[in-house]
Amino acid sequence: MNHLFEKLRVQIRFMFLHLARELRKSSRSTPVVRESKNLFTKEIKIPVFVSFAVTVILFYLMLFIVFGINWRSMIATAIFVVVNIILFIVQVKSKEQNIIKDNDAVFLMSFLFVIAILICQLSREYSSPFITPVGAFSLMGAILLSQRIGTLYAISLSLVVAFLNDFRFDIFLVMLCGSVAAITNVSNIRRRSDFINSGVKVSVVNILIVAMFYLFDAYGSSQFKYDLIYSALNGSIVTVLLLVLMPLFEKLFSRTTNIKLIELSDFNNSLLKRLMLEAPGTYHHSIMTADIAERAANPVNENSLLARIGAYYHDIGKLNNPNYFIENQTLGHNPHDVLTPEMSRLILVSHVKDGVSLAKRYNIDNEIINIIQQHHGTTSMYSFYHRALEEDANVNIEDFRYQGPKPQTKVAAIVMMADSCEAACRSIEEPTVVRIQDMVEKIINNKFIDGQFSECPITLKDLKSIRDSIISTIVGIYHARIEYKQK
Ligand SMILES: [Fe+2]
Ligand SMILES: [Fe+2]
Repeated sequence: MNHLFEKLRVQIRFMFLHLARELRKSSRSTPVVRESKNLFTKEIKIPVFVSFAVTVILFYLMLFIVFGINWRSMIATAIFVVVNIILFIVQVKSKEQNIIKDNDAVFLMSFLFVIAILICQLSREYSSPFITPVGAFSLMGAILLSQRIGTLYAISLSLVVAFLNDFRFDIFLVMLCGSVAAITNVSNIRRRSDFINSGVKVSVVNILIVAMFYLFDAYGSSQFKYDLIYSALNGSIVTVLLLVLMPLFEKLFSRTTNIKLIELSDFNNSLLKRLMLEAPGTYHHSIMTADIAERAANPVNENSLLARIGAYYHDIGKLNNPNYFIENQTLGHNPHDVLTPEMSRLILVSHVKDGVSLAKRYNIDNEIINIIQQHHGTTSMYSFYHRALEEDANVNIEDFRYQGPKPQTKVAAIVMMADSCEAACRSIEEPTVVRIQDMVEKIINNKFIDGQFSECPITLKDLKSIRDSIISTIVGIYHARIEYKQK
């Protein structure tokens, strides 16, 4: 009787908690939200062929007008445009399949290219060609799309600037070398202040190339001074353009860059701070999972920074009911003991949904939201299923599964494995290397057999590398405890 009364009391308490939370949500002033819908990616889907055709036409017209309106320049411009377009098509089609399939990415690639050509025209018209910020567009292409696209921009735009300025080889070399300097080590650009370094690199390389041509007697000393000043100024223009345009393009095209990820990893941001204060157990679990996921992403050449930040946020949905998750419970008190398995199932499932809506409210990027949504895939909650079986033999395991979707990317799969392995190894009372190995292998094998990786492009070779990395990281984490136990 007492047990029944206690059960009823907890159920009522849970209902009130839920009601209070909903009321709080509706009365709280919502933080500034960047809706996941944005101008281009959700509302207007521009097909690849439209972006491509418009770019080719604009590219042709902008050059044709400069070269002169006659049949010779018409044909010559056409050949130049075709050569450039073929260069892009060959490279992107063979090496950048992800971009080809992504309408928004192709549109961004075209948009950046057209704007860059326009700026090349303007700088030729109103200033010196040496000031053309080809490096800024190459670096934007490298950060927002890929390093290969950045390199293609560097080559193609340098050719355009040279062709627009009497086919001058010195201008081509200055533009190309400056841009290549800007996009070298693009993966190390993790803060907006790094754009200043990029600008400095562009200026230094430009000055060196201009000086080289002067020493070869290609310029007179008055022209040398003039070109030197403009090529040095080029770096400043590159920095200013990057600082102004990058955040705009990140937002408009919903691109998750390393810079954005680093900003999301700041523990002073309100969501991670809330996790630290309101669910310290989950916070600690997320930090451990982030370490494991980040290292596991390296051997399979995936974005380790995305894996880390995805893991930081994967369980933020637990903020709504932190005490119902084992890592936040104090010894001997588990609120699930007095809940029905069905109620427990609902609480567990809701942490994924709550995580997604919290992330949207707090302006978190879509790539992170996808990881939150997929981190449990459609795995089952065995312990509650078994408890439900004790009460009703006809319970279906399918009713005790998370609602998915399954991981769609390798990074989401890595976070899923890191999450489960961290939680499971934490429960090993006396961890040894063999026990950790067995546990990690068991978890990854079970997820594989359960079909959780059937929707992401992960190979058996990848799984082996990820497993080895997870084992070595977890063994490293428990190193002191293992040594202590073995003494
Ligand atoms: Fe979770
Ligand atoms: Fe987790």
